[in-house]
Amino acid sequence: MFSIDLGDGAQLRPLEPWQAEEFLAHMDRARELVDPWIPWASISTDLATATATLQRYADKQAADTGRLFGIWQEGGLGPAGIGPGGLEPEGGLGPGGLGRESTLVGGTMFVAFDAASGNCEIGCWLEPAGTGRGLITKAVRVLIDWAFRTRGMQRVEWHCDPRNGASSNVARRLGMTLEGTLRSAYPWKGTRRDTEIWAVLAGDWVSGQLSVSGQLSVSGQLSVSEQLSVSE
Ligand SMILES: CC(C)(COP(=O)(O)OP(=O)(O)OC[C@H]1O[C@@H](n2cnc3c(N)ncnc32)[C@H](O)[C@@H]1OP(=O)(O)O)[C@@H](O)C(=O)NCCC(=O)NCCS
Repeated sequence: MFSIDLGDGAQLRPLEPWQAEEFLAHMDRARELVDPWIPWASISTDLATATATLQRYADKQAADTGRLFGIWQEGGLGPAGIGPGGLEPEGGLGPGGLGRESTLVGGTMFVAFDAASGNCEIGCWLEPAGTGRGLITKAVRVLIDWAFRTRGMQRVEWHCDPRNGASSNVARRLGMTLEGTLRSAYPWKGTRRDTEIWAVLAGDWVSGQLSVSGQLSVSGQLSVSEQLSVSE
């Protein structure tokens, strides 16, 4: 499968309906971390609902209204040790690759993507074994770079609960600006939640050296935005 090297044995790849079984096992590992904040693991509780979640994003991708990517980490992830989730040929799809074990540890998505208005929103999640490694910050940079440079988008938003410090830290690290808080914005787990709106604009990203285009092409092959285009 086409992939983008995030460094340290991590890869960003499309996450598609045929991977529902692997996605469900990952959701089961992620549920405890994700459930307090977003209705994401909770909508994928068995193979049918996990497949439906991935199919919904496949449909969005076909309509150019959203996209979903998984983050795979090679090998084990420390003492917590999680099992292997799949084999990917080493070095891409070249001949003779014996493959390395990799585990789906999280992902990121264009929750919304409106090419006509130039606005989009990015979301993300991890299972515990994937946290604290910068995986989301690196992966979301790739998506933002693609949105601005390849697709000519003008505005990328990030929505999070004000109490979700790990999430707002990602937005801050990416150079986003906190624009405001929607009070009592949506119902979740029997309460109504506020939503912080963070955003970065194309002009800030491109002129402010916030992008990492090229920086992540550690394999010395294509630039990040070129790789993402190839993977579509
Ligand atoms: C939000 C969430 C994805 C953030 O996870 P995270 O591991 O903190 O984020 P990143 O992958 O960007 O990693 C950043 C951490 O790795 C560290 N790090 C290590 N190497 C790094 C690198 N090269 N670049 C950036 N950070 C790096 C950072 O210091 C930071 O750790 P710290 O918080 O202890 O300072 C995670 O908490 C989660 O899945 N939460 C539940 C779902 C959720 O809330 N989703 C978002 C909804 S808006």
